[in-house]
Amino acid sequence: MLLDIRNLTIRTQTSTGLVNVLDRVNLQINEGEIHTLVGESGSGKSLIARAIMGFLSPRWQVTADRVWFESTDLLNLTPQQRRNIIGVDIAMIFQDAKSYLDPNITIGEQLSEAVLDRDLTGSWWQRRGQRKQKVITLLHRVGIKNHADMMQSYAHELSEGAAQKIMIASAIAHRPKLLIADEPTSTMEPATRQQIYRLLAQFHARYGMSMLMISQDLGAIMPQTERISMIYSGQLMESGAADALLTRPHHPYTEALLSTSLYRQAESEPRTKLPTLAGVEPTLQHLPIGCRLGPRCPYAKPECINFPSQTKLRDHHFACHHPVNLED
Ligand SMILES: Nc1ncnc2c1ncn2[C@@H]1O[C@H](COP(=O)(O)OP(=O)(O)O)[C@@H](O)[C@H]1O
Ligand code: SF4
Ligand SMILES: [Mg+2]
Repeated sequence: MLLDIRNLTIRTQTSTGLVNVLDRVNLQINEGEIHTLVGESGSGKSLIARAIMGFLSPRWQVTADRVWFESTDLLNLTPQQRRNIIGVDIAMIFQDAKSYLDPNITIGEQLSEAVLDRDLTGSWWQRRGQRKQKVITLLHRVGIKNHADMMQSYAHELSEGAAQKIMIASAIAHRPKLLIADEPTSTMEPATRQQIYRLLAQFHARYGMSMLMISQDLGAIMPQTERISMIYSGQLMESGAADALLTRPHHPYTEALLSTSLYRQAESEPRTKLPTLAGVEPTLQHLPIGCRLGPRCPYAKPECINFPSQTKLRDHHFACHHPVNLED
């Protein structure tokens, strides 16, 4: 297993006291796997990504039984381990690529900085030549043919798709074992999104790179996704192989999201008419007790004020007192 997260809890102080924004979340990613984390806006997806990277400010209290990357504890990295792992073995790309690129230096200079010294050999001028060559190769890998123009460009001159490609080039410069992609295509046109997905799929196939993809919509996930985890209001609702979860979800939340997502519309004949969820995700000041889906769940019963433990059916996990689609 590449990444093993058990009972990750993230607390913060709100006007109504200390709350578990993230509530005992498990997430496991196998080597070479594309795992997609799906949930509505505000459900805690970026907090998980930032906790893995160690990017959370001290106002967030992070605890877990384990957050392991291979055999390293990511919550207690030594400075040396941090330099070796974060940004190298684990890289991250974001939604708004342009705002993460440095506006003051050219794309060529930014990508040069992403090339690791340890990948270069020889005298300083040999290394300089190698560095430039590596930048050109990176640009070609992400599908940018006119490398000379691109290397002279500044971030503000790029389209959103091109900026995301540069961010990907920068992230893959170190051939990370795990790439975390936090809604990298959510504001893109479907055609550009497909282009970025194809690119990521190529790197996945070429380097065996594992990926944690983050998405708001089950209808806009990478087709190569092998496993999906569903998060709602900081609680992990369901996790399983993509095929099983998309065709036979066991959690009411997944069932409802499937009925509203583009995923269904893409199919010629929806199998059943599924209920959609009324209402909105709760705010941090008013988190429901127990299963946080309760106020919006069509199956909610009094026992739902206790958060259900995870049920495991082979490698399909779900946390619900009244799971759906269980009959044969
Ligand atoms: N910088 C912040 N300040 C205050 N609240 C935040 C901040 N970042 C996230 N939150 C809150 O934490 C919760 C989870 O946020 P986030 O992980 O960004 O959700 P997602 O990525 O799923 O949209 C939300 O309720 C959000 O309002
Ligand atoms: S535990 Fe209860 S409220 Fe939560 S999803 Fe299941 S039935 Fe609905
Ligand atoms: Mg987010």
